[in-house]
Amino acid sequence: MYKEMPNIMNDNIDIFLEGVSVRYNLPTESVRTFKEYAIRSLQGKIKRRSFLALNNINLQIKKGEIFGIMGKNGAGKSTLLKVISRVLIPTEGHLIIRGMVYPLLQLGAGFHPELTGKENIFLNGTLLGHNLNDIESKYDEIVGFSEIGDFVNAPVRTYSSGMQARLGFAVASAWQPEILVLDEVLSVGDVAFQQKCFTRMQEFRDNGTTTLLVSHAPAIVSSLCQRAVWLEKGEIVAIGKADKISQKYEKWMEVVK
Ligand SMILES: Nc1ncnc2c1ncn2[C@@H]1O[C@H](COP(=O)(O)OP(=O)(O)O)[C@@H](O)[C@H]1O
Ligand SMILES: [Mg+2]
Repeated sequence: MYKEMPNIMNDNIDIFLEGVSVRYNLPTESVRTFKEYAIRSLQGKIKRRSFLALNNINLQIKKGEIFGIMGKNGAGKSTLLKVISRVLIPTEGHLIIRGMVYPLLQLGAGFHPELTGKENIFLNGTLLGHNLNDIESKYDEIVGFSEIGDFVNAPVRTYSSGMQARLGFAVASAWQPEILVLDEVLSVGDVAFQQKCFTRMQEFRDNGTTTLLVSHAPAIVSSLCQRAVWLEKGEIVAIGKADKISQKYEKWMEVVK
């Protein structure tokens, strides 16, 4: 059974996971209508395949570190970030998260597609608990950082994936977050923009922000992160110093390619 742990951890630890597992149940046959589904379900006739997207994960992430998460598609990286962002309750295990999490989980997450960039900035700022004056005073900086220019007055649905990522990061980082969670959002941006984001992440780190960063690029993980984990099929393959882990991952990727 999932339950929250009493607060017994060390002061330096912001994120603590013990024995965390996430199980998904997928129906193995397609059922055409909801009525058919309900009837077959009551009769116990729906066959399900159950699998562990995360299997017994033990993890401690220190306050003020940039922590890398590597692994192939389907390894469980996004599932892990969803658990830490409390979007998903694990099937088993304990977790403690100390601080408010700002998750950038998917492109455009947190943005309303029909609202303009400007309206979305105010919406997000409000959801983060800031008042109008506070958001207005940050507005120019957010738009400037995002480099979206006049598009700020167009609906977000008209944005390219790179523009969405830029605005997403600009809003998420306008106020220093306690815990910042980035799920591959920077991989769609260009190199110059990535560099700007990395500089900001390093400033945050120096001021105590804890960051989780999913990235496929060993060079980024080894230069930006202090520690990293390599996940495969929902399990931890290796955890430790970022440069060591990204080297191991890179070698392994060459082998399985
Ligand atoms: N909502 C869901 N229902 C069922 N299976 C899911 C769901 N979300 C993810 N999965 C599966 O869980 C596994 C891990 O997914 P994910 O955490 O998204 O991996 P990654 O981010 O490393 O690519 C994959 O096999 C994926 O298909
Ligand atoms: Mg993912």
